[in-house]
Amino acid sequence: MNDPAVSICIIGAGGIVNDAHLPAYRIAGFNVKSIADRDYQKAEGLAAKFFIPQVYHSLEEMVGGQDENVIYDCALPASEIAGVLQQLPEDATVLIQKPLGESIGEAKRLLEIAHSKKIRAGVNFQLRFAPAVLEAKKMIREGKIGELTDIEVYVNVHTPWKLWSFLFEKPRMEINYHSIHYIDLIRSFLGNPSGVYAKTFKHPDSPQLASVKSTIIMDYGAQIRATIHTNHHHDFGYQHQESYIKIEGTRGAIKMSLGVLINYPLGIPDTFEYITAGFPEWQSTKIEGSWFPHAFIGTMEQMILAKKGRIEKPENNIDDALDTMRCVEAAYISSEQGGISLPAV
Ligand SMILES: NC(=O)c1ccc[n+]([C@@H]2O[C@H](COP(=O)([O-])OP(=O)(O)OC[C@H]3O[C@@H](n4cnc5c(N)ncnc54)[C@H](O)[C@@H]3O)[C@@H](O)[C@H]2O)c1
Repeated sequence: MNDPAVSICIIGAGGIVNDAHLPAYRIAGFNVKSIADRDYQKAEGLAAKFFIPQVYHSLEEMVGGQDENVIYDCALPASEIAGVLQQLPEDATVLIQKPLGESIGEAKRLLEIAHSKKIRAGVNFQLRFAPAVLEAKKMIREGKIGELTDIEVYVNVHTPWKLWSFLFEKPRMEINYHSIHYIDLIRSFLGNPSGVYAKTFKHPDSPQLASVKSTIIMDYGAQIRATIHTNHHHDFGYQHQESYIKIEGTRGAIKMSLGVLINYPLGIPDTFEYITAGFPEWQSTKIEGSWFPHAFIGTMEQMILAKKGRIEKPENNIDDALDTMRCVEAAYISSEQGGISLPAV
């Protein structure tokens, strides 16, 4: 995949670029050519750390210095994306950090801009490319657990939200910025649900955050249960912090833990366990690589393959991402509308 003919220009030199984009690209051998941030010192700092040759003060300056063989990698708050798309050249290729806007209205607007400028855009919903998730998909393709009957994402952790100060102003938080990963993940296994039930919750210790816990059901009919439970306010030590994806089929099951979320940002090792028909014990496999940073290879690799014409479009293309945003929107509407009132006695 390391083809010097395609290089990456990074817009935004913040936490996620330092922690995941650049470490992933270094592992994959992707060619990162330039970086820009409105805070030039941050861009300079990451350029020095990851040996990036070109550093720019602005996107305008960056775009002016490129040929057509680049992929823009935009890792900015969602509110900045429309402005960036407006400034990119026609026919550009760009990978956009999630979420795709703060609402379905913003997501549609971003799609319109991308389509009108014939921009090939993908969104960085990378959990579907985490090594453990790819292994689970391989096992499912091989029929090892039979027909899918249940997907459960369970997260009970203490997340230090203060690391992302921009989240404190958002009208929508937990689902749009965190559970969105699990919604996209479940879609990558099961496609679009027929509907979404949800409730998202606040916590007294974080009054400024719009929400910090959610329960979401994605409706795939009577035979398949798909649920997401997140509680980011489990501030009671590590003993009962948990974070896993469990997938059950008619012939077996897979349970993978997401260690990165425990004791964040230190994390603990992931686990991958499975049980299949004909072998009654749970077994463990060591999976090379983790959600952070390895899954970030997958989203960029899709962009590179599409740019080189080796695939028609990236799996994480912006039109597919819109469907994840539609599910997010449905979840917020469901949460606002509330449950069914108790029948009268
Ligand atoms: N996919 C994931 O798992 C994941 C994880 C964390 C964050 N994110 C997303 O990545 C984005 C950035 O998050 P972060 O934690 O790196 O934030 P951050 O605040 O650490 O960094 C954002 C950077 O963007 C720069 N910036 C803002 N607007 C700009 C503009 N118009 N032009 C140039 N530079 C600009 C800021 O100066 C800052 O350096 C957010 O949208 C967030 O949701 C995704």
